Amino acid sequence: MGFRAHILGAAAGGGLPQWNCGCENCRLARQGSIPAQTQSSLAVTGNGEDWTILNASPDIRHQLTDCAALHPSGLREVPLKSVLVTNGDIDHVAGLLTLREMQPFDLFATAGIHDVLAQNPIFAALNKKVVTRRTVTLGVPFRLAPGLWADLFPVPGKVPLYLEGETVETDLVGEQTVGVHLTGGGGEALYIPGCAMLNDELRARLNGAPLVFFDGTLWRDDEMVRAGLGEKTGKRMGHISMSGPDGSIAAFASLNVGKKIYVHMNNTNPVLNPESLERAEAEAAGWIIGQDGMEITP
Ligand code: MLT
Ligand code: MN
Ligand code: ZN
Repeated sequence: MGFRAHILGAAAGGGLPQWNCGCENCRLARQGSIPAQTQSSLAVTGNGEDWTILNASPDIRHQLTDCAALHPSGLREVPLKSVLVTNGDIDHVAGLLTLREMQPFDLFATAGIHDVLAQNPIFAALNKKVVTRRTVTLGVPFRLAPGLWADLFPVPGKVPLYLEGETVETDLVGEQTVGVHLTGGGGEALYIPGCAMLNDELRARLNGAPLVFFDGTLWRDDEMVRAGLGEKTGKRMGHISMSGPDGSIAAFASLNVGKKIYVHMNNTNPVLNPESLERAEAEAAGWIIGQDGMEITP
């Protein structure tokens, strides 16, 4: 068996439902009227045996329990060979703490993201004797796991929320927010769970891609403000919205992309309700709304 991707978590930070949120989606998810979703993470294999996890969410313990392909194959043998993080956000790194227990794996990230982890001494819980921190240079391909190759590219974004200063640049292009190009086992995919905007470089990369997992944080830029949940727009959070003239649906309309799947969706996003008009609109534009447990093969 070759390339296979498994969505461990399709929601953005907070998950659906989010513990302190009484928005419509969170209420419906608590009632079981719409599917709950855990936080942002994707598992990928190139050979059907050895797996990597892209972003380690705070829900990783449940996600690993729910994914049979990642269960231990022996006393302390696991199919997980590596973890890669695409930024330093809490929803993408907090799960690393769950992965302590003296289990060997490689931890891949850019130097910029490794620096953020190194500044937080709690991550020393991942004992360096067994968890090897591997620094990736943008644009230089590397073996992510047996049978699976990757290279990283910069994506407009910002520093993690907990490192924001007085002024925040929301469309920095560098090592703090990256996308992943995966190849192996007859498959190829782009994984871009956080993206502030599409620039020419990104458009060129996306055009012709057979499979893309893309930032679906918000439906509209002022969604959280309108719902009375805060002051932040999607732009301020470093996330492009789905709808509108500047949105990802419009941006992808002129690109030739095989399969396009939204991931990292905030609990306020109406597409998380299967009955919503917005869901129908996104699907009519050719998008698949990711959900926990979804498996994708080439
Ligand atoms: C984001 O994607 O903007 C972050 O995960 C927000 C957060 O840290 O909660
Ligand atoms: Mn996030
Ligand atoms: Zn909510």
